[in-house]
Amino acid sequence: MANTEPPVSDGLDVRTIDPEQCDAVWPLSIEAGWNQNVADWRFMLGAGRGFGCTAPDGKWQASSLVLPLGQKLAWISMVLVTKDRRRGGVGTGLLKRCIEEVRSADAVAGLDATEQGRPIYLPLGFRDLYPIARCHFDGVEGAAVAPPAGITVRPITPADLPRLAIYDRPLTGMERPSILMHLALRQPGRAWLAEDVGSKIVGFVLGREGRVATSLGPVVADRETIAVALISRAAAAAPGPFIMDVPKAHQAVRSWLQEHGATSPRGYMRMTLGTAKGLDDPTHVFALAGPELG
Ligand SMILES: CC(C)(COP(=O)(O)OP(=O)(O)OC[C@H]1O[C@@H](n2cnc3c(N)ncnc32)[C@H](O)[C@@H]1OP(=O)(O)O)[C@@H](O)C(=O)NCCC(=O)NCCS
Repeated sequence: MANTEPPVSDGLDVRTIDPEQCDAVWPLSIEAGWNQNVADWRFMLGAGRGFGCTAPDGKWQASSLVLPLGQKLAWISMVLVTKDRRRGGVGTGLLKRCIEEVRSADAVAGLDATEQGRPIYLPLGFRDLYPIARCHFDGVEGAAVAPPAGITVRPITPADLPRLAIYDRPLTGMERPSILMHLALRQPGRAWLAEDVGSKIVGFVLGREGRVATSLGPVVADRETIAVALISRAAAAAPGPFIMDVPKAHQAVRSWLQEHGATSPRGYMRMTLGTAKGLDDPTHVFALAGPELG
């Protein structure tokens, strides 16, 4: 659909990408070999704001997205430029537009940078928080790993969602009830909760289908043994292959995945422009929702 907004950001003709353009913009992430499907684009464009550039024929040549994660933090993602339009300042221009958007909301920007993206984020003032390994694996053989004594793992129900968001927030620094709800309701079979004997939440895993693989994450838990039990349960219940984005600090989770054949062909760097409380601490974040969702 044509958009008549005036040009902004360094003379670049930046257009908003509306949710109904999810099909039209999807080829950008396919060209980059990324895993998002149309449902991901539709959700992200509805929950956040998309900015992009088109060719004269209206075809999308570049995209970027700002997704609010509460009042104080916003996630920048889906920064994509078609191969034939790269190295012309489009990526930087879109990023500046996203930063304007985040600053106008008085929030701090966070993102997970690919190796290609990091060189454009550093000069704009982003700094590294921690590295993340993208893990690929086909599936997990055998029975799911038992949780530690006194912990039970069961499917998440809609009634769990309000307290899930309350559990998640201090451990991740992200306020994202609508994202958690979207993932839990979109793929209930991949949504598992760990509770202690007093029914207190001690961890959860969510997941979603993707273009080429099932994405498992976020995984948030009190400790690593609970995270492994949750991951194994979710992987046993869903079709592979799988991708998971695991902070490199979680050596035990990564070793367990490697024992099940996981490889890690690439990684990300979590970065921020400004300071967001808790965002620099991956202690309880065993897998991201995805670089596009935080
Ligand atoms: C990353 C990406 C968006 C950059 O888009 P772009 O329009 O080419 O970026 P710019 O032209 O604004 O680049 C600005 C500067 O960043 C640096 N830069 C950009 N790409 C680079 C690369 N591959 N290697 C090293 N430096 C690079 C350069 O300094 C460049 O300036 P120069 O061309 O004058 O040397 C694009 O390469 C892309 O779509 N890659 C695949 C998807 C991806 O990884 N996205 C990032 C997600 S975090």
